[in-house]
Amino acid sequence: MTSPAQSVSPDELAEAIARRRTFAIISHPDAGKTTLTEKLLLYGGAIHMAGAVKARRATRHATSDWMALEQERGISVTSSVMQFEYSGFDINLLDTPGHQDFSEDTYRTLVAADSAVMLLDNRRGVEERTRQLFEVCRLRRTPIFTFVNKCDRVGAPPLQLISDVEADLGIRCYPVTWPIFDGHTFLGVFERATGLVRLFEKGEDHGSGRAAEAAGSLDDEAVIKRLGEGVVTALRDELELLDAAGEEFDADAVSDGTLTPVFFGSALTNFGVEPFLKAFLPLAPAPLPRESSAGIITPEHAELTGFVFKIQANMDPKHRDRIAFVRLVSGRFLAGMAALHVRSGRPIRLAAPQQFMARERKLVEEAWPGDVIGLHDRGTLRVGDTIVTGPPLEFGNIPRFSPEHFARVRLADPMRRKQLDTGLRQLSEEGAAQVFYEDTNIGPSPIVGAVGALQFDVLLHRLENEYGVPAKLDRLPFALARWVVGDADEIRRVGDGYGKKLVFDSREAPLILFENEYTLRGTVDRETKIAFHAVAP
Ligand code: G4P
Repeated sequence: MTSPAQSVSPDELAEAIARRRTFAIISHPDAGKTTLTEKLLLYGGAIHMAGAVKARRATRHATSDWMALEQERGISVTSSVMQFEYSGFDINLLDTPGHQDFSEDTYRTLVAADSAVMLLDNRRGVEERTRQLFEVCRLRRTPIFTFVNKCDRVGAPPLQLISDVEADLGIRCYPVTWPIFDGHTFLGVFERATGLVRLFEKGEDHGSGRAAEAAGSLDDEAVIKRLGEGVVTALRDELELLDAAGEEFDADAVSDGTLTPVFFGSALTNFGVEPFLKAFLPLAPAPLPRESSAGIITPEHAELTGFVFKIQANMDPKHRDRIAFVRLVSGRFLAGMAALHVRSGRPIRLAAPQQFMARERKLVEEAWPGDVIGLHDRGTLRVGDTIVTGPPLEFGNIPRFSPEHFARVRLADPMRRKQLDTGLRQLSEEGAAQVFYEDTNIGPSPIVGAVGALQFDVLLHRLENEYGVPAKLDRLPFALARWVVGDADEIRRVGDGYGKKLVFDSREAPLILFENEYTLRGTVDRETKIAFHAVAP
């Protein structure tokens, strides 16, 4: 196969890689992710007036809203990835669903990111969902940048926030900016690298445009006058404390995810958003090398490689149209180029690729490592698949997490079993839910598993609307699952018992479902001859 990727000059490739930043924002609901996303797009010039992404927010609250939204696909799709430029950087901001019932989707998206921005509410600090997502990042040693949001209103003292993050997550913090308050009023931030005070003016437009800004050093007469002696002295004391007792900046520790640069600001009023972008982008990693079955693949590798991390169905409700989101790992992508779909061993033409800009999609001619492109797919691609132009290799790095909710599918019309199996197979390939069988897939009707219960509602809705299979779910009493590796007879013996059930996933790998933590612990402690895994081995 002749591959246009091979003709790319190393300099051109290196330059494109150096400009790219691919990241996701992780946060607990309500910390301000939608607001911050919008402000990043505003500063990136991708939108002109904040308020555009806002419509999405209401949707995370109720299933019915979510369904309605799904029918308007445009919104949820364009929000899967947002591409924009800022100050010489080409940014891919990967969006993750707000509702925690879709966290599987979030986990997969994090695999496609090179870094994560952890957004905290200044009153609440680290919350439950932040913690879960942080753990997923930690598993992959993803560099984490922290933005403490909502500083425009009274929150926990910054020093306390930082020590809470350190104690809670076991990550060291290095404040890159430091908030300046006059009593309860947020005036701006101090940039430690430049020694500049950045003061903001609150506009009349409620944050829909950029914040006006003035900058000067702490010795600057005008700055001292604006802040007042008292504020300057308090700030100097805090900065001295940070310099003396705080962490040193250590780029290697940022890269391996053990130290997080911290920024303060307010997404709502735009205070601190631009200083964050300016410092974050140069510090954040350019596209990183990835492990593959053929060893480490660096972005500079001349052949095109990439993997599917998300599939979005029903972009157009009139057709069974799916978009596979591909994160490019190496090489140069050109529209229409031929590649190899490694799992099937068949050639695939990468036609009509799309990129996403805030609310619009456009066809792309060219894309580079770190970029995410959307490919039209008629059912060939699955989450986790690799495409290459050179010798075959597979990334296979998309984790499947063990579900926490289980149900048996009950068909309204038993004659539609075949359609059910087709629907479930395709939906599980998309990652909409996981499907399990008892022994063989001709046996009793399948069991579905989900990380979040809302996934079930979506599954039933889609089975009926897309596959013409009305069905119901009978919830099963299991709450935990572990993939098991070991001797087949042993596995059968261990899986057969009170409060447990042995099932097989779509790849015929065995799992044991457990009713509760107690049964799980007891079994894991007792059965030392088999290995138990929470993430599919
Ligand atoms: P999410 O996507 O993380 O769930 O959060 P979202 O941006 O929707 O923000 C949640 C709430 O927090 C919103 O208020 C939003 O206006 C507010 N918020 C976001 N950033 C800031 C900030 O920097 N300062 C302050 N004070 N508030 C902020 P809401 O009342 O739920 O909605 P709305 O009436 O403002 O639309």
